[in-house]
Amino acid sequence: MTSRRAFLGGAGAVAAAAVALPGTAAARPELFFGPHQAGITTPQQGSMQFAVFDATAENREDLIGLMRAWTLAAARLTAGLPADHLGTADAAPPGDSGEAIGLDPARLTLTFGFGPELFLLQGKDRFGIAAERPAALVDLPLFPGDQLETGKTGGAIAVQACADDPQVAFHAVRQLARIGAGAVSLKWTKAGFCAAPRTKGTPRNLMGFKDGTMNPDTADARAMADYVWAGKEGPAWMEGGSYLVARQIRIALQHWDQMRLGFQEQVFGRHKYSGAPLGKTDEFAPLDLDATDAEGDPLIPATAHARLGAPALNGGAQILRRSYSYSDGADFVAERWPPWRQAIEYDAGLMFMAYQKDPRSGFIRIFETMSRLDALNQFTTHVGSGIFACPPGATPGGWLGQGLLG
Ligand code: HEM
Repeated sequence: MTSRRAFLGGAGAVAAAAVALPGTAAARPELFFGPHQAGITTPQQGSMQFAVFDATAENREDLIGLMRAWTLAAARLTAGLPADHLGTADAAPPGDSGEAIGLDPARLTLTFGFGPELFLLQGKDRFGIAAERPAALVDLPLFPGDQLETGKTGGAIAVQACADDPQVAFHAVRQLARIGAGAVSLKWTKAGFCAAPRTKGTPRNLMGFKDGTMNPDTADARAMADYVWAGKEGPAWMEGGSYLVARQIRIALQHWDQMRLGFQEQVFGRHKYSGAPLGKTDEFAPLDLDATDAEGDPLIPATAHARLGAPALNGGAQILRRSYSYSDGADFVAERWPPWRQAIEYDAGLMFMAYQKDPRSGFIRIFETMSRLDALNQFTTHVGSGIFACPPGATPGGWLGQGLLG
């Protein structure tokens, strides 16, 4: 384990380097400092590296050292700088692994969140913060159909790195893991992609449907205050922060590809190519949940994903979805029920990322019904899960999580 002295020494070196930040920023950076963390309402970048860490630090001081060092490194990386001075001494490891040297910052954002395990692990309050755990940071219930793998569930600290260049996103998480050695250890990572269409507009997921149409408008400050940013209802250290619910959802793509177009559209309650609600032509037309067809059946089926996600059916609940598709090769799948298939199938799907003011009135409220009734469930399996309290942004000179730990 890195000694505390070495750890803080590292942080000091980064601090010195960070003084040179203004003016040295390369093209197209996103701002790191601000009232909210970047990467939540930031227009979605093309790539994501999501990483969850276990906390191995033994005391609060070491955790503070970590968050200070990560804040400084994150500010540098976001600006397109190496995590630390590269160094030229043959005898010491370089201050950055180097694969982003010469690359554009590519709108890199780094978003940090604290999981329930940071506050209390096996009954132990290692960092003296158990009393500060927000009520909104609940343990997610087990939902019908969940097949969660322990290695991809829970965790103490999450980092969402997004950039328009996958190498930049990978590099950033790798530097944070390196800097955090001794205080955190990597639990799991997931790489995701989300291609913006040539003609702009809503990106599509691997099921071929536009995904994100009915998201609350990130330019609407009122909507963000109502649905995304934590306010005065919880602890002061979370004010201006947000809660992330992350779910790795595997999709049976080969099975889906055999479904008739009309059926695919019934599953979502939307037309595939335009993204419009069934019976409409405009993607952004409101869902008419009362509309019926010639037989008097609901035009948007009772089991349609869009109906079950609609605020009108969920007490007005809204969440900000910022998901990425993933593809991890292919593996053997055996179905013991009809159609009794055995085959090598894609291990691919959606890394579902949703930000909200309070998961109890957001994700949980919506997914309680969805997990039981959604026609989409025939094709999806939730295999990973995490909930994280993402504190507000840091101000220059300050550090992320200072309100909680400082
Ligand atoms: C692989 C899994 C999933 C896929 C492929 C998927 C896809 C979609 C699509 C295509 C839409 C319609 C367009 C839009 O409004 O963005 C949609 C809407 C929505 N989805 Fe999902 N989704 C998935 C999982 C989930 C989960 C787990 C939740 C849990 C809360 C969820 C919540 C919503 C909500 C709230 C809406 C908006 C409904 C509305 O306001 O009309 N989705 N999703």
